Amino acid sequence: MNITRPAWQLEFSVHVRELDEQHKRFFSLLAGLHDALAGEHRGGVAAADTISALREYAILHFSTEEKLMAKHHYPDFDEQKKEHDAFFDTLSEFGKMRSDEERTLEHRILEFMRGWLITHILNVDKKYMSFFNSNGVF
Ligand SMILES: [Fe+2]
Repeated sequence: MNITRPAWQLEFSVHVRELDEQHKRFFSLLAGLHDALAGEHRGGVAAADTISALREYAILHFSTEEKLMAKHHYPDFDEQKKEHDAFFDTLSEFGKMRSDEERTLEHRILEFMRGWLITHILNVDKKYMSFFNSNGVF
């Protein structure tokens, strides 16, 4: 698995302060999960709690983005909504597999979320950057 600790980087900036702050928080929760899995006791309750916290945070973050997009009539809203919904669909799939090898599963969830978040920010969120800025949202 990728052992690099998840971290927000300047290249992930979408030039909208609130959304950058939320993306940073998302990465710091991922770092918490990474630490829980790398720790001496390897996973267990701490990792499960962090995964729930990440799911809750994703709900909050996606809703912030979607409200802002709806408010400004963002043309690629549907693409965003579809990706956000697919994130939860994938998480639910992991939920069904949970009883097998818990630790392995938690690592896979971390890698899925990290990969999803980075790809989503760079390929999909970046597209709203100039749209929001030109609508006076920074
Ligand atoms: Fe998004």
